[in-house]
Amino acid sequence: MDKKAMYKISYGLFVVTAALAGKDNGCITNTLAQVTSEPNRVSLTVNKSNLTHDMIELSGCFTASVISTDADFSLFKHFGFQSGIDVDKFAGFTDFKRAENGLCYITKGTNAYISAKVVQTIDLGSHTMFITDVTDMVVLNDAPSATYDYYQSNIKPKPQKVGETSDGQTVWRCMICGYEYVGEELPEDFICPICKHPASDFEKVGAAKEEVVPVGKTPEGKTIWRCTVCGYEFEGDELPPDYICPICGVGADMFEKV
Ligand SMILES: Cc1cc2nc3c(=O)[nH]c(=O)nc-3n(C[C@H](O)[C@H](O)[C@H](O)COP(=O)(O)O)c2cc1C
Repeated sequence: MDKKAMYKISYGLFVVTAALAGKDNGCITNTLAQVTSEPNRVSLTVNKSNLTHDMIELSGCFTASVISTDADFSLFKHFGFQSGIDVDKFAGFTDFKRAENGLCYITKGTNAYISAKVVQTIDLGSHTMFITDVTDMVVLNDAPSATYDYYQSNIKPKPQKVGETSDGQTVWRCMICGYEYVGEELPEDFICPICKHPASDFEKVGAAKEEVVPVGKTPEGKTIWRCTVCGYEFEGDELPPDYICPICGVGADMFEKV
């Protein structure tokens, strides 16, 4: 069985926004899909650990901004790599306007928005599927929609090569926390196991030092398991079979040993 077949499904990408008690929030999802046209209904599947999930469940509505190929990685970082539980994602964020239902829609890196009202919820364990009536739809521009595949190939940052070392060993250092990775090429989807910053925050440095951490191990020697969907890394010698990725919600079968 080849898990990569899942990547061949042409998911779209969305910033799904909701609000509760005067607080706005939103997260990235790839799970919005039309389910019926008469009535016009869409489904959305959201991880129960996301703040956006609880806001949709309690308020009964959301607005999904359709991400276009004009979007840059900062949009994904802002809405997909941090939780509204820890930060106010709309504090200082200016690329939005309000839809007819009062919820925010994103005006930069998007091409349309769809507002929806929940008519049914289906408990899927780690996630809830919301079946919704579309209450409004607006096209913002003609930029093509970004697919999940487009995001993986064109939006996610790629590392920059900055020279060679004398002994053939290459060390890439995380400019955020100083963690060092040894290997000729730093994988494009590498996530720092210490501070979780992406490959674009690593720089190539000189020859390997003795204390350099072996690839695939934490400084404490623990094994790293990486989510093949979102890049999240779990540290531990064994990955529990019932483990669920806290970022994108897939199961242990979608993780690989780094
Ligand atoms: C490319 C990408 C796709 C994602 N798809 C989903 C998804 O379909 N469902 C989901 O619940 N979370 C998804 N996530 C993860 C959430 O966006 C992420 O956990 C977010 O930090 C939750 O924020 P919140 O707690 O403020 O709601 C995705 C993240 C990325 C980067």
